[in-house]
Amino acid sequence: MDIQEIKNRAEREIKSVQNIEELKKISQKYLGKKGEITLVLRSLKDWSEQEKKKNGKIVNQFKKKLLNDIRELEKKFQQEMPKDDTKEWIDITLPGKKNLIGHLHPITQVKREVEDIFERLGFSVVEGPEIETEKYNFDALNIPKDHPARDAWDTFWLKKPEKEKDRLLLRTHTSPVQIRYMEKHNPPLRIVAPGRAFRYEATDASHEINFYQIEGLMVDKEVSVANFKAIIGRFLEMFFKKSVKIRLRPSYFPFTEPSFEIDMSCLVCGGKGCSVCSQRGWLEMGGAGMVHPEVFKSAKLNPKNWQGFAFGLGLDRLTMMKYKIDDVRLLYSGDLRFLKQF
Ligand code: FA5
Repeated sequence: MDIQEIKNRAEREIKSVQNIEELKKISQKYLGKKGEITLVLRSLKDWSEQEKKKNGKIVNQFKKKLLNDIRELEKKFQQEMPKDDTKEWIDITLPGKKNLIGHLHPITQVKREVEDIFERLGFSVVEGPEIETEKYNFDALNIPKDHPARDAWDTFWLKKPEKEKDRLLLRTHTSPVQIRYMEKHNPPLRIVAPGRAFRYEATDASHEINFYQIEGLMVDKEVSVANFKAIIGRFLEMFFKKSVKIRLRPSYFPFTEPSFEIDMSCLVCGGKGCSVCSQRGWLEMGGAGMVHPEVFKSAKLNPKNWQGFAFGLGLDRLTMMKYKIDDVRLLYSGDLRFLKQF
């Protein structure tokens, strides 16, 4: 057996190989069960010690090199091969890959539901800016500088741009929309204005520095507190889909007279008292009252001709009551274990 001849021949053939089929044939010819190199290695045992020493190493090294060359070429040919889609095999019994689909945040869901209910009650949905001027957030709402009510609505002030004549701030409530709307539209009118509000205050189970409100305003020739009670009662019934206990508690807002807070029997604890309602059994859902004559004047309307009620409800609180959430901060935590439940 001429080992050198086999080696030379195999090297020549491997150099001129054109495709994977030819490569497979060469592999079989030299390294297969009855391949030439396989047979040489099998016959080693019959050789003399001297021949074994001389040729054994050469053959083994060449086998290794040939195997390596074949593997490299195989890789090269496979990469060059055009992909044949018809031969692709799909295991249709494998479980599918589930697409992760997001959903609306609970507050957005509640906001849309609340808008929808007020639209059915004859109100239009309008919006106002989150960055407000001092005039709309305070002055036009009868809260002049140094008024103690400003303390209750401490906020984040922004750097005043040169061209702006008023100081800018993040609005503390949605009430500025009342003025903005009445400046441009004549009564009779019925609007709700949902949106974000900001306050510089300590957070707890029912207070965040960023939260959502929905403002309501109805102005006509004859509007009374009785109209407000009917509207708010009907709204809460439609929202909670059951009759809920509410109470109007006398209060004070500079932009309404008389003013009251709208409290609702706490649905988280069933009125027994918990951290959400500060152990009172009642949770404040919003403020309300009859539009103050000064507010009509700020919007260039004659208070002698018009009457109206206004209210501001906390959308976060409505969400908490609806889903029995015991901490407002959960709504802003971004924790998917919480959010995925809605
Ligand atoms: C106001 O903001 C008035 N603008 C409401 C109003 C409108 C009165 C029109 C009269 C006429 P108050 O500060 O009470 O009022 O806030 C109203 C509601 O917003 C609260 O009852 C509560 O539901 C919600 N709210 C207030 N502060 C926070 C807070 N830090 N985190 C979450 N919700 C809040």
